Amino acid sequence: MNKKRILTGDRPTGKLHIGHYFGSLKKRIEMQESGEYDPYILIADVQALTDNFNNPEKVRKNVREVAIDYLSVGIDPKKTTIYIQSMIPEVAELTVFYSNLVTIARLQRNPTVKTEIAQKRDLFGESVTYGFLGYPVNQAADITAFEGELVPVGEDQLPLIEQAREIVRKFNSIYGDVLVEPKAVLSSEKRIKGLDGNEKMGKSLGNAIYLSDSEEEITKKVMSAVTDPGRIKKDDLGNPDICMVAYYHNLFSTKEELKNVCEECKGGKRGCVACKKQLAKNIIEELKPIREKRSYYEVHIEEVDKILMEGTKKAQAVAKETMKKVKQAMKLDYEI
Ligand code: TRP
Ligand code: SF4
Repeated sequence: MNKKRILTGDRPTGKLHIGHYFGSLKKRIEMQESGEYDPYILIADVQALTDNFNNPEKVRKNVREVAIDYLSVGIDPKKTTIYIQSMIPEVAELTVFYSNLVTIARLQRNPTVKTEIAQKRDLFGESVTYGFLGYPVNQAADITAFEGELVPVGEDQLPLIEQAREIVRKFNSIYGDVLVEPKAVLSSEKRIKGLDGNEKMGKSLGNAIYLSDSEEEITKKVMSAVTDPGRIKKDDLGNPDICMVAYYHNLFSTKEELKNVCEECKGGKRGCVACKKQLAKNIIEELKPIREKRSYYEVHIEEVDKILMEGTKKAQAVAKETMKKVKQAMKLDYEI
């Protein structure tokens, strides 16, 4: 029996942080390790350019950073094919074909796109580019070029997968049953909030812990996390429900530790500084193997590049096959 294909990826606009780790990477690794799937993971440099067209160096640099992050967290190139989006020309071609199957109004209503446009006023001003508005179409091309059945992503990506499903249904109803309709797979963990309590963790918000952060950086960031503002002295009774330190203890500490944190905080028996130090230690411990693998790959960049090129080659062959079927269905199958 053929293994179900997984297709997923990230925009290389920065290093990956613990929000990515809990939101999607852990799930992707779990699925990879189950051996039940055929996973592909793309570094979406073309999509990254849709909101970084004025900064190609940044995108180029982060293709390698994201590749190193993947390898460091345990994406295993023997089990998962890692490739670079811009090296799959079929994806660009499919994007053009699919753009006939989606209306401008539908793209404007996409909640993820809507939120992002609002956040990117600095870049787009009053009028968004055609490329950015259309990136969900490009993402549908990413997934369908590989006949991706399952897409493990964070919650914020759900509207994009829904849009891809609509495009697939429309395509199949017009041209015949060629494309595979993808399904999102959510991580059991919810989206991770930032150190400042913001709903989203991100570079621009300055509230993220990166997988590549040093021990000192992690400690410094944890020390600056937002705690219960009503607590000034150690014996003030605290409320861990409104404290980001308690929130992260929930992710990085044992159940036992978390229980103690909450009880002692509520009873005024715990100092915030000690509480933060304990958390920093646990985060450092959990990220240690990732950091160690990272240091290895940082000085063995040639290995990273080789993995990317081999994955990309394999991916190119798959996309070519899909394109053949698509062109036949669309009556574009000319031969010279
Ligand atoms: N939109 C994703 C992000 O912002 C990246 C991405 C591009 C993707 N193509 C994809 C995710 C295909 C899943 C499937 O990080
Ligand atoms: Fe937060 Fe810990 Fe301080 Fe309570 S003791 S407010 S959980 S940092």
